[in-house]
Amino acid sequence: MGKKLNFFKEALLTAKTSGTITPSSRFLAEKMLKGIDFNNAKLIVELGSGNGVITKHILKKMQPHNHLICFEINDQFYEELLKIEHPQLTVLKVSAEFLIEEINKKGFESVDAIVSSLPLSIIPKEISQKILQESYKSLNTNGTFVQFQYTLDYYKRLKQLFKKENVSLNFEPINIPPAFIYKCIKK
Ligand SMILES: C[S@@+](CC[C@H](N)C(=O)[O-])C[C@H]1O[C@@H](n2cnc3c(N)ncnc32)[C@H](O)[C@@H]1O
Repeated sequence: MGKKLNFFKEALLTAKTSGTITPSSRFLAEKMLKGIDFNNAKLIVELGSGNGVITKHILKKMQPHNHLICFEINDQFYEELLKIEHPQLTVLKVSAEFLIEEINKKGFESVDAIVSSLPLSIIPKEISQKILQESYKSLNTNGTFVQFQYTLDYYKRLKQLFKKENVSLNFEPINIPPAFIYKCIKK
């Protein structure tokens, strides 16, 4: 079965946690990564990696001193991610709400960039709040949090957390469905 069809089947079966039916387009993946400072980053974290479509774009841009830790809770997607063999990649089958505890276990204290495609709108509110708080807390000063969403549900919440002037909004039409991209900088 093709990768896209596999993703479609798994996403339909787990609609309550996957939040989509198709993997992100390369246009969305590339736009998400614009502005991430790979030259000065030590640790990059991806939340909700799915079958690895954005993961692979991140890996292509990685510098020898970067490390990537991916969080994915879906069994099938986790297995897919394990097939991406890369010495600078760690894949965890753990919910993103345990971000800090998990990076600490791997010997990291903080994060330079977080790339999230978590379906924030359908994750229970107490969990999405914890994920955003952990993300904010874990970031270094000038660290970046990038998130895409199909609606503008979380724009206000992110502006509260990172402060209005540190959040920018972008849009990618070539994706199913078209997506908004929030880029937040921790000051
Ligand atoms: C919209 S899909 C994005 C998949 C892929 N990154 C892409 O862009 O095509 C969201 C992913 O988040 C995962 N997910 C949902 N809740 C999660 C959580 N609490 N922690 C980690 N991953 C989660 C889902 O299993 C799903 O694979």
